[in-house]
Amino acid sequence: MDRYGVFGNPIGHSKSPQIHALFAAQTGHALCYEALLAPLDDFPGFARAFFRDGQGANVTVPFKEQAYGMADQLTERARRAGAVNTLKKLEDGRLLGDNTDGAGLVSDLLNAGVALAGQRILLLGAGGAVRGVLEPLLAQKPAALIIANRTPSKAEQLVQEFAELGPLSASTFADLAEPVDLIINGTSASLGGELPPLADSLIQPGQSFCYDMMYAARPTAFCQWAAALGADTRDGLGMLVEQAAEAFELWRGVRPDTAPVLAELRRQLS
Ligand code: ATR
Repeated sequence: MDRYGVFGNPIGHSKSPQIHALFAAQTGHALCYEALLAPLDDFPGFARAFFRDGQGANVTVPFKEQAYGMADQLTERARRAGAVNTLKKLEDGRLLGDNTDGAGLVSDLLNAGVALAGQRILLLGAGGAVRGVLEPLLAQKPAALIIANRTPSKAEQLVQEFAELGPLSASTFADLAEPVDLIINGTSASLGGELPPLADSLIQPGQSFCYDMMYAARPTAFCQWAAALGADTRDGLGMLVEQAAEAFELWRGVRPDTAPVLAELRRQLS
């Protein structure tokens, strides 16, 4: 049976085995997919040993940059992201590195009926999560994409790197005031129940949409703030399912139906 897995450390919390088991059942593909705890001191050795008989793997924290480093070939979006979340063994045994996170975010936003083309979008954060979604978001042709970060120099650095792909600019949190159509929270602040300092005037009640790339059983602090101001909100559980679907398609050549899988995950989370 074809073997797949997800490498991480820690890895016990991963929902990927369940998501891929549901995709496999739905598409009638016989495969095995496991959560694998990779050692912090020898990720490349662990991954190479897996790929002696493994066909493909997802890669999560903290190994995405190391996976980028060991891929023999990279997709353009992985090269831009500087990180790999999906590895595929090619027929000649070499490893292809891809990054499906940004495509997952875009698919989940479009599934939710959120327009991206021609919109003013604010992206919060400037770490790995944000870097990974910049190219796919700019490919949707927004009117403006503003990156705001607690450490402004990191936002400015990303603007320098990605400005050739679209209308990108950097801002501090304090300088943000004009309403936007969509705010995407790519900071890890939600993990600690925190919220970047944002002006309420950014949100137009009933018009602005707010998306948190994090998810939890209860609404995140960011989603709570946005909902209280009259915005529609969505958390990142759908992004997780969509990035998995993109990986499954790369490995197996079929695109699973994500809606029932997302519904099942949401049911279990609550
Ligand atoms: P990830 O891979 O999840 O992006 P990261 O690269 O460590 O993780 O980046 C975390 C991001 O969340 C950064 O943009 C960080 O801001 P700094 O660059 O100023 O460190 C942001 N962040 C984390 N905690 C935050 C908080 N409490 N308020 C605002 N921003 C926060």
